[in-house]
Amino acid sequence: MNKIKLLKFVNFVLGISFLVQAISVVFMVLEKAPGWLYKLHALNGMVFIVLVFVHIALNWAWIRANFLKKKVEAPKSV
Ligand code: HEM
Repeated sequence: MNKIKLLKFVNFVLGISFLVQAISVVFMVLEKAPGWLYKLHALNGMVFIVLVFVHIALNWAWIRANFLKKKVEAPKSV
């Protein structure tokens, strides 16, 4: 699997994982969640964090190019 395909796959799973976290927490806050949903939220939360780091790693070249590049000074006028 090349990097772009892997990134697309990670982004898709990351999206699903985020939705699971966001939806499960609504039931938890409303105290309507069965026990297994608390476990799912905790487990999926760890998966979510790992996927966020993989997502950042796969986009690192972009992040470095856009946020971590050294500012080039504008030439001084004469
Ligand atoms: C969309 C992102 C998330 C939101 C909005 C969110 C929100 C919340 C809220 C409001 C609670 C308290 C619910 C209650 O007891 O009534 C909770 C519990 C918890 N969250 Fe999240 N959370 C998110 C992501 C995560 C992540 C990334 C983790 C990482 C492991 C995580 C782990 C947990 C755990 C372990 C609990 C305690 C569950 C229990 O009582 O058994 N959550 N979350």
